[in-house]
Amino acid sequence: MSEPWPAPLPPYGGRLVDRRLPPARSAEAAAEARSLRALELPPRLWGELELIADGGYSPLEGFMEEEDYLSVLERMRLASGLPWGLPVLLRLPEGWPAAERPRPGERLRLEAAGRAVAVLEVRGLFRAPKRREAEQVFGTSDPAHPGVARLEAEGEWAVGGPIRLLDDPPDRLGPRWARYRLRPAQTRALFRKLGWRRVVAFQTRNPIHRAHEYLLKCALEIADGLLVHPLVGETRPGEVPPETRLLAYEAVLRRRFAPGRAVLALYPAAMRYAGPREALMHAVARRNYGATHLIVGRDHAGVGGFYGPYDAQRLFDRFAPGELGIEILRFEAAFYCRACAGMATAKTCPHGPEERLSLSGTQVREKLRRGERLPGEFTRPEVAAVLEAAHAGGGEP
Ligand code: ADX
Repeated sequence: MSEPWPAPLPPYGGRLVDRRLPPARSAEAAAEARSLRALELPPRLWGELELIADGGYSPLEGFMEEEDYLSVLERMRLASGLPWGLPVLLRLPEGWPAAERPRPGERLRLEAAGRAVAVLEVRGLFRAPKRREAEQVFGTSDPAHPGVARLEAEGEWAVGGPIRLLDDPPDRLGPRWARYRLRPAQTRALFRKLGWRRVVAFQTRNPIHRAHEYLLKCALEIADGLLVHPLVGETRPGEVPPETRLLAYEAVLRRRFAPGRAVLALYPAAMRYAGPREALMHAVARRNYGATHLIVGRDHAGVGGFYGPYDAQRLFDRFAPGELGIEILRFEAAFYCRACAGMATAKTCPHGPEERLSLSGTQVREKLRRGERLPGEFTRPEVAAVLEAAHAGGGEP
């Protein structure tokens, strides 16, 4: 088969990391792992482990050591100089006895729900300043921020070093969704097979409402295909669970998108709510999955009023063209305008705010709680039906 032109964007750092043990060595490695000290990973890190092992976080080969960690905090770059938004850190649990902290050179068995999933070769043990991390990563030390609250509950010491994956962490979604579990090497191979050169990735933690659909379709007009890449790791309580969202994604993709133009796949990370810095992480990871573009709209990865609506977009101006490789498609806040009788943004709509319909997440939940229909201008009926059914079933909307 001839190579598509231009050649696909290479993984970040040049090579797709693969830290899975070859099957031939797994029995021997599992036996060795049994003799090591164990460290239980919180579920939030299960997806991070997968991202490291399968190259979603290339060029990382493990949890960060101090040099990368501090460099990311202070200059938003890995020690090598590559732009990078978020720490990928393994903190020891609070209360781990000082005398028993792992030492460089030790190997640890990483467990998920009590099952061995990886071996960590400890290269560094260091104090990772939580307050400084909160201020640098989230832009605040206010515990009302969910990321700050989580950080406060964790330990101060971290261990870093390369990992080897022995086994997949438990699948929290179940077999119904396994077909969307595509690793970076698999999405890359798929895009190549489809002949897609311009692939637009879409990060989301919400059902696809009309504003999201509008962004996706605007982007698709100038691309070959979409990577609809919902985050399925931990989110804060009260958000729509991934199983419900996935039903909604299937429904809306089937009804509203031309067949063969969107690949739905799971992004295993947990939500950090770090706004701009998380947008940078999302861009780097999606490049590794084979995307050439990432949609960044209003308040990307935001929470409450902690970030300005376009802070995430502005962060990308700090990097020289080509540094990230993946390009950012910036979108203004989209809404339904009654006078336009369609979706629009302030860039395209000449009418006033009284004609515009948009709802916040809280307003959506309120409506569902009261048993009201979500307006068709805001949410497609097939998505509304999924959300209403989930709500009636006692799950979160
Ligand atoms: S996020 O945490 O994953 O960013 P969400 O799923 O709501 O949350 O958003 C997915 C993407 O769509 C983000 O890039 C976000 O900025 C963008 N977005 C969401 N709603 C709108 C909107 N009404 N107008 C413009 N962009 C939006």
